[in-house]
Amino acid sequence: GKVRAPTHIVSTICDDRGDEPTYAGVQISTIIEKDYGLGDVISLLWFKRSLPKYCTKFIEACIMCIILCADHGPCVSGAHNTIVTSRAGKDLVSSLVSGLLTIGPRFGGAIDDAARYFKDAYDKNLTPYDFVESMKKKGIRVPGIGHRIKRGDNRDKRVELLQHYGRTFFPSVKYMEYAVRVESYTLSKSNTLVLNVDGAIGSLFLDLLASCAMFSQQEIDEIVGIGYLNGLFVLARTIGLIGHTFDQKRLKQPLYRHPWEDVLYAK
Ligand code: ACO
Ligand code: LMR
Repeated sequence: GKVRAPTHIVSTICDDRGDEPTYAGVQISTIIEKDYGLGDVISLLWFKRSLPKYCTKFIEACIMCIILCADHGPCVSGAHNTIVTSRAGKDLVSSLVSGLLTIGPRFGGAIDDAARYFKDAYDKNLTPYDFVESMKKKGIRVPGIGHRIKRGDNRDKRVELLQHYGRTFFPSVKYMEYAVRVESYTLSKSNTLVLNVDGAIGSLFLDLLASCAMFSQQEIDEIVGIGYLNGLFVLARTIGLIGHTFDQKRLKQPLYRHPWEDVLYAK
């Protein structure tokens, strides 16, 4: 019989061997004819499925996260790196990745951990007090809590918009409300310990996945386990970082050098 040579790569999301590429089995011409949007393409290439009409809220929420996280000014880690790199005369891709590389557990990349920890704590019925204090004992900062400029009396508009969306359209927002209760407790400790946009997205997506019958419990565990959700921030902020690169080039900004006065030269 035929012997199939072992392949070096296994791939399941996109097939480019026919007349036209398919995304999770859907031809790109169908995507155009049927007016699929960016959310549908994310759904095909990340979640490997076309979401039915009743899951449109899932797609809308992806798009909303991308719009809301596209940029947050020139001072944040990502934009700062991109600006410095662009001003060093580097090209678009170098400037972009220099900014993207700062996305991680402190900046923009806390969404998956926020989802993991909020889910675990809620599913175990931990009170916000028990959850936060147990994290403190382990020496782990609660992912999704805390911000450099947002405060209890100066909330993050993005968080408010995401929460309004969840409360208006989702059948249940139990994880989101749990995150809010965690925030109430952390705010009682310090005014800086607000629920941040990573925490808002993480908890919103837990509710979204749970309410969309398309995902089995095993798949939800896989999505949270592998960590898909930081991808939303990476995708979103790519838009802003590209914008910052163009902005610096357009403004013909010179090489950046950090001022001496702003450095403490200590022994
Ligand atoms: N959980 C518990 N305690 C915290 C947390 C937290 N998430 N964040 C701050 N604290 C406490 C700590 O006691 C900290 O003291 P320590 O340095 O001895 O640990 C004290 O508050 C100081 O807090 P801040 O000065 O406000 O913290 P900082 O400004 O340095 O950090 C940051 C802000 C990085 C966002 C932090 O709150 C954090 O690590 N949060 C968790 C990660 C996270 O969610 N990041 C995403 C932010 S949103 C975004 O990037 C789009
Ligand atoms: C962001 O979205 O970049 C921010 O929330 C981080 C910040 O410090 O503003």
